[in-house]
Amino acid sequence: MTFSVEAVRADFPILSRNVASGKRIIYLDSTATAQKPLSVIQAMDRYYRFSNANIHRGVHTLAEEATAAYEGARQKVASFIGAFSSREVIFTRNTTESINLVAQAWGRSNLQPGDLILLTEMEHHSNLVPWQMLAAEKDLRLEFIPVSDDGELDLAEYERLLEQSPRLVAFTHMSNVLGTINPAKEMIARAHSAGALTLVDGAQSVPHFPVNVKDLNTDFLAFSAHKMLGPTGIGVLWGREKLLAAMPPFLGGGDMIKKVHLRSFTPNDLPHKFEAGTPAVAEAVGFGEAVAYLETLGMDNVAAHETDLTRYALQRFAELPGVRVLGPAAEKKGGVISFVMDGIHPHDVAQLLDRDGIAVRAGHHCAMPLHERYQLPATSRASFYVYNTREEIDLLILSLARVRELFS
Ligand code: ALA
Repeated sequence: MTFSVEAVRADFPILSRNVASGKRIIYLDSTATAQKPLSVIQAMDRYYRFSNANIHRGVHTLAEEATAAYEGARQKVASFIGAFSSREVIFTRNTTESINLVAQAWGRSNLQPGDLILLTEMEHHSNLVPWQMLAAEKDLRLEFIPVSDDGELDLAEYERLLEQSPRLVAFTHMSNVLGTINPAKEMIARAHSAGALTLVDGAQSVPHFPVNVKDLNTDFLAFSAHKMLGPTGIGVLWGREKLLAAMPPFLGGGDMIKKVHLRSFTPNDLPHKFEAGTPAVAEAVGFGEAVAYLETLGMDNVAAHETDLTRYALQRFAELPGVRVLGPAAEKKGGVISFVMDGIHPHDVAQLLDRDGIAVRAGHHCAMPLHERYQLPATSRASFYVYNTREEIDLLILSLARVRELFS
């Protein structure tokens, strides 16, 4: 299919609303959460109007429809990432919960005091704190692949760290601050030859370019629906079936069991073993619809559109005096532009842009250690998705020039 950004924009009702001073919204905060197309909103509405029931528990028509809708969404997601089977797709609340699941279920039962987990300096807190918690509990070691001044991982140092035989290498596929797209496939191959398992934080990659677990050959992949046009409240942990099957459950309760006695239980089969309690059924339905929408656009088209916007934005940012953009050159970067303006606080920048209807995020973006690495307390961040245009970038640059004038 040919990609038309105008046609895409027409699918997103929120993009036609005005904000602040009557200005049409320019949404440049998709790295925090993406907007939702009408088809996703309608699928969830339809589910609640016509099919709502609890799943895996009833024999009545609505329960069967709800179960089929939930499991159908799992199959769509499995096929979207090239999973071997939908048993490998565990629905969680979000990327954060997926990583916690691996830390608690795999980490607690497989790691011994002194074992090493290798992370990177560019991780989101969700791929740091769960390991810090586990390390404190089990006396593990944590090491970090350093980040260069221009926002790339130091792969020579990665090689040296692999000599210490880490048990797990857990890293982001694409940084939510720098936009850096890490060479995941090569990093995974290197980790495997050093005897480590791998966990890829795909929160920013799966929504933006084709990601296939067979090709990547990772052991775990975590991502969230809400960053890929789907609803909040649902995410995925994909894992190799053998690993997942050998892991103890994470949360206990209904649906994750086959049998329960007063003093014992038998866990359910995959994927249900890791899905305790009533799950986010309507959200799964919306997630399935979001995946279908992205598939209709074509992930190659999505990636190409964002590459064009990123290149264009970097060119335009270079015209602004006193502005520093973090991260590597366009070839190694997804659609995330974090920047600082000399003498102006990133929050002031975001607030002034909001007056022009432009939504960007300001702060540490849940990556405080990375900001410490660059000795910055905060940055402003513009991020792009399928519905953004070059014209919106022009308006952002115009608005930033006005911010500069105001402060000069
Ligand atoms: N991880 C999200 C962000 O970067 C919340 O904004």
